[in-house]
Amino acid sequence: MNSRQRFLAACRREETDRPPAWMMRQAGRYLPEYREVRSGSTFLGMVHDSDRAAEVTMQPIRRYGQDAAVIFCDILVPPAAMGMDVEFIEGQGPVLGPPIRNREAVDRLQDFDANDATGFLGDSIRKVRAELGDERAIIGFCGAPFTVASYMVEGQSSRNFENTKQMMLGDPETFDRLLTRVTDNSVGYLKMQADAGADVLQIFDSWGGALSAEVYRERLFPHVQRLVAEAKGFGVPAILYVNGCSHLLEVMADTGADVLGIDWRVNPAEAIARVGDRVALQGNLDPCTLFAPPDVVRREAAKNLDAFTDQRGYIFNLGSGILPKTPLESVAALWETVLGSPLPEAATA
Ligand code: CP3
Repeated sequence: MNSRQRFLAACRREETDRPPAWMMRQAGRYLPEYREVRSGSTFLGMVHDSDRAAEVTMQPIRRYGQDAAVIFCDILVPPAAMGMDVEFIEGQGPVLGPPIRNREAVDRLQDFDANDATGFLGDSIRKVRAELGDERAIIGFCGAPFTVASYMVEGQSSRNFENTKQMMLGDPETFDRLLTRVTDNSVGYLKMQADAGADVLQIFDSWGGALSAEVYRERLFPHVQRLVAEAKGFGVPAILYVNGCSHLLEVMADTGADVLGIDWRVNPAEAIARVGDRVALQGNLDPCTLFAPPDVVRREAAKNLDAFTDQRGYIFNLGSGILPKTPLESVAALWETVLGSPLPEAATA
């Protein structure tokens, strides 16, 4: 089977010759060739330029040969298309303005047509497809409603989500309206990606783990369930990734997602026992493992693969995105172990 077939089979919980594998943030600053393209432009400039976006999407594939390419873009593209100012400030991260703090601000947000407002992303997907053919899978994505809404309400990254939770508790109707509007727009955004050729769609709920299982089920679940159902309606499998999800596995599985992306705090045997008969699993090596020497990386990666051998439907990944300062020799050791074959010569340069 080729990489694309292997990836799709794992999503459907069918037999594979080995687990398919990719890495969140696999196109990024740990790669010297990424830093080179990046040095001449801003992050958003690269996202909007489908030639450069397709180029950096392909970089990790050329180097390591992962089974899937994740399209270079960001979960904060939809808030920009809804009319917010979105900037990525060096050393600080994303800044969005003005922050959405009341009903009027929610009502002022615009609905966008994904082909008009974010056509660059469709172009990136088509360019990557032209290079990959049907050999490898293409992963499109969006943020989950809570994660995206938290950036819109806080206006930046947040540790505790004070303003977001204040709105959720103090003005639940407005908060629910915000989640609805984010979800509405995410549906069209995912459809555009599936139409352009994405084989799989991943929903990133990076901060959903900040809520209890009860609150997640009551406030977020209806929106996530709808987004998952719409994604599957476009004929592609849906992956739901939540960082810090050990308390959320059941509610995540209840959304109908084909695959659950789990972080490294989750014990694999426990995840398999709790939801492994209902969904495929993706994860979950701690990205900081890659700061260890290559022989430790090989051992830990093998241990991680072993822990999932009993799971029908398993995709290797890290438990969160690869970090910008990760040493390349460890990344090479990881892919050698996981893909089970010697890497192209360029891989370690
Ligand atoms: O995974 C991939 O390689 C695909 C592309 C991708 C990016 N961001 C590229 C990116 C994906 C899937 C994302 C998702 C994303 N973006 C998430 C969810 C994933 C997660 O980590 O849980 C979140 C929370 C964001 C918002 C965001 N974008 C943050 C917090 C930052 C970090 C700012 C920083 O300086 O590190 C970004 C910027 C970003 N998105 C970069 C990349 C490669 C770094 C850009 C650069 O400076 O070159």
